[in-house]
Amino acid sequence: MTLPVGLALGGHTLASPFLLAPLEGVSDAGFRRLCFEQGAALTFTEMIRARSLAKRNKATLDLIDTFDDDVLTGIQLLATSPQELCDAVSTVEELSKTSHPHWQRIAAVDLNFGCPSKDVIQHGAGPAMLKRRGRMEAIFQALASWKKTTSLPVKSVSAKIRLGLNQREQEHRVFLPVVELASAHLDYVVVHARHAGQRSRDPPTWAAIAEAKKVARVPVIGNGDVVTRADALRLYELSGCDGFLIARAAIASPWVFGALLGRGYVPTVDDVERERLRYLDTPHTKPKYREFHAQNFARLLRQARGEMTTMVIPQNAHMGPSR
Ligand SMILES: Cc1cc2nc3c(=O)[nH]c(=O)nc-3n(C[C@H](O)[C@H](O)[C@H](O)COP(=O)(O)O)c2cc1C
Repeated sequence: MTLPVGLALGGHTLASPFLLAPLEGVSDAGFRRLCFEQGAALTFTEMIRARSLAKRNKATLDLIDTFDDDVLTGIQLLATSPQELCDAVSTVEELSKTSHPHWQRIAAVDLNFGCPSKDVIQHGAGPAMLKRRGRMEAIFQALASWKKTTSLPVKSVSAKIRLGLNQREQEHRVFLPVVELASAHLDYVVVHARHAGQRSRDPPTWAAIAEAKKVARVPVIGNGDVVTRADALRLYELSGCDGFLIARAAIASPWVFGALLGRGYVPTVDDVERERLRYLDTPHTKPKYREFHAQNFARLLRQARGEMTTMVIPQNAHMGPSR
């Protein structure tokens, strides 16, 4: 069995089935460029709260750092109602014509229904919304209508979901009707094969991606523990998913995309050093990201020199410290 070579998502024709996940505190323009050049066909900013965006909170606006012409990048929004979503996307549209012209590169919009943060769930949002299907459908419809009229080059709209709020919801397959709803309004759906009570060290349930694929009428992107090409092949064989969203493996090494694509490429010391310097040249990068990526490049350099180092992948900030 071989992997699909490309992937059509809405109006995008992608050269690879591998997407770089939205990653809070990690996904800045320099990191996305490196992943894109290694084979991530579509990349995302980290999650952006729609409400803060509509309020024009400066720290939130700064998260949309789409400064790079060449790197296909979407934004990921956390919206709790259609109104909140409409306010956020009209703010994006308006500011892209004035103070934030770099937003005219926004190529996709993903909706986050997987955020396991307690405050999000307490507000009935994120994974808590999986059962509030009327509201979810209204959000999907609002995004789909905006896509038809926006002047931005948004060619695909999607939702990223988990399997439920907890084990019980997963067992009741609450995600399947959501996949059907997404099929009616969106261009594709990303299924993170864990429920919201699970941490990344808990094994994903890839069989759920196969179930999603059976009911979906749009492409299904599988997510959860795809680290090697063998993992991708196994998940593809099991589920028939259309593509793969890669998160922690990309943090461990952006060069993983070459390996996933079967190029088997391991970066040399020169490669890592060159990319480190290019990263440092990236404009508008915030100190928080620089610090994280400086440590990551230092570790990748030690690995390229053959000095083994243990990789500490940050938890999704919303999950709290590792258990
Ligand atoms: C540091 C970190 C930050 C994350 N930030 C986001 C985010 O902003 N939005 C989101 O939908 N998922 C986020 N996630 C979850 C990942 O996108 C992905 O669903 C999860 O890590 C499982 O994929 P993996 O097994 O390839 O790591 C984050 C994960 C990590 C480790």
